[in-house]
Amino acid sequence: MFKKRIRTDKLPQHIAFIMDGNGRWAKERLLPRSAGHTAGVYALKRVIQSAYELGIRCVTFYAFSTENWKRPKEEIDALFDIFRNFLRENREEYLKKDIKLVILGDMSRFPDDIRRQVEEIGEKTKDCGRLAVSIAFNYGSRDEIMMAARKLCQNGLEFTEENFRRCLYTRDIPDPDIIVRTSGEMRLSNFLLYQAAYSELFFVKKYWPDFGYNDLVDIINRFSKRNRRFGSV
Ligand code: IPE
Ligand code: IPE
Ligand code: MG
Repeated sequence: MFKKRIRTDKLPQHIAFIMDGNGRWAKERLLPRSAGHTAGVYALKRVIQSAYELGIRCVTFYAFSTENWKRPKEEIDALFDIFRNFLRENREEYLKKDIKLVILGDMSRFPDDIRRQVEEIGEKTKDCGRLAVSIAFNYGSRDEIMMAARKLCQNGLEFTEENFRRCLYTRDIPDPDIIVRTSGEMRLSNFLLYQAAYSELFFVKKYWPDFGYNDLVDIINRFSKRNRRFGSV
């Protein structure tokens, strides 16, 4: 494969992805939606490997939203199975490659075995420093903000930005420099609403299963030309 080149030394620190379009990708091929999600995991692994090669420090993937419970049970079960297999199949490799795996979201609705796996992987990879991979699963930004506010109250902490941030699922990761959404939709769908305050947004027409290394390089090159002012002049 011809690999595009990064034309900047200004790499973003954190890129977040809204992995959208798996269902439409499958539909176009007359396949069940679950086949789209399976193809989506290949893209996920590809993008993790790409970020690793490019020297990005932090990537986050939106895999299941708090609103995705509205989907048919069959599809939800398939998504949980795919998540379970992803964790099982990749933990050793990530440990070896110095990749830290973090899960963002409300884990209370996870089956016990997945919760155990998440805790085990989190513990094992907690000191890995080359790349942090976060998977947002049963994640919703409004839910996260409410949870953090409740935690602040319950712990009797002062309402400061610093304390609030410490109560978010994202407490250990920087705000995303870039948020990418595939499939042509232009909305955030309850993803990192607080953390996205100054993120650069990129909307890509491709469906998530077709997204890869060169698309990521394109976005990083375009990002390097944007003028981020953060409210200044
Ligand atoms: C994104 O793909 C994956 C999840 C939300 C789990 P979709 O399943 O939303 O695919 P489309 O948007 O229906 O094509
Ligand atoms: C957003 O995609 C959630 C994930 C990618 C996990 P959706 O497909 O659920 O979002 P909407 O319904 O189009 O806004
Ligand atoms: Mg969708």
